[in-house]
Amino acid sequence: MDVIIMGYGRMGREVEKILLERGHRIVSRVDPGGFGNELEPSEESLEAADAVIEFALPGGIEKSAALFSQYDLKVVVGTTGWADKKEAVLKPFKSGKGAYLYGSNFSIGANLFFKLTIAASKMINKVDDYDVMLTEYHHNKKVDTPSGTALSAAHLVLDNLDRKTEILSGNPQGAIKDEQLHVASVRGGSIPGIHTLTLDSPADSLEISHTARNRSGFALGAVMAAEWLMKKESGIYTVDDFISDLLDP
Ligand SMILES: NC(=O)c1ccc[n+]([C@@H]2O[C@H](COP(=O)([O-])OP(=O)(O)OC[C@H]3O[C@@H](n4cnc5c(N)ncnc54)[C@H](O)[C@@H]3O)[C@@H](O)[C@H]2O)c1
Repeated sequence: MDVIIMGYGRMGREVEKILLERGHRIVSRVDPGGFGNELEPSEESLEAADAVIEFALPGGIEKSAALFSQYDLKVVVGTTGWADKKEAVLKPFKSGKGAYLYGSNFSIGANLFFKLTIAASKMINKVDDYDVMLTEYHHNKKVDTPSGTALSAAHLVLDNLDRKTEILSGNPQGAIKDEQLHVASVRGGSIPGIHTLTLDSPADSLEISHTARNRSGFALGAVMAAEWLMKKESGIYTVDDFISDLLDP
């Protein structure tokens, strides 16, 4: 693949390493902060590229999505924190030009965590003894709280466990309601990301935990998703579409 790296920060650099390891070519590294070789994608790069991998900040996401659709590109987006603009960002890809695949966590291990979260939530649906909660730890530079991954896992619990109907984030100032699912966030140090689902009964406790060691797992998943997207039709996809193809028995 000939790829534009959109956002040349910590994740963009990891993506670059994995792309080169897997024999792909880099058309340009775009970053308005001046860290790449282009401040915005040039016409030449847009015409030369097959795909874009974007780990940037959400400020420019709407504009870049429209541009990439215009050039019929396959776009993988890991940037988080743009739920409020989702409709406008996705709109150009409903026109039959370009493909857009997005997700809050591209790590294959974290997606195994999601699948185990679904399975555990379904299993304890009939076993009232078990309460359930989520915790997440991240480095002190993380801007969004709770993490996109924790919110995705929380919604999976709500969708699959009838007795939980509401997400409660932050620090509760007293007892919480039975139907609330507490999602607790801790910030500090350099932690790339720890997410834990705890199932707790009067008799015992189980933990399903995913610990990212570094950012390479996210970058590998994003590159694999772009390889997968190259074989797909135009349109809108989520990381789940790719992961289900990869992991479902
Ligand atoms: N989906 C996942 O698996 C996953 C994993 C890790 C991080 N993330 C998300 O990816 C994003 C980037 O994370 P990071 O750790 O690389 O951050 P970072 O701050 O190290 O890098 C972000 C880079 O994007 C650049 N940028 C800002 N606006 C841009 C624009 N309009 N176009 C191109 N570049 C732009 C910034 O100058 C910066 O260099 C964040 O939203 C983060 O939450 C997602």
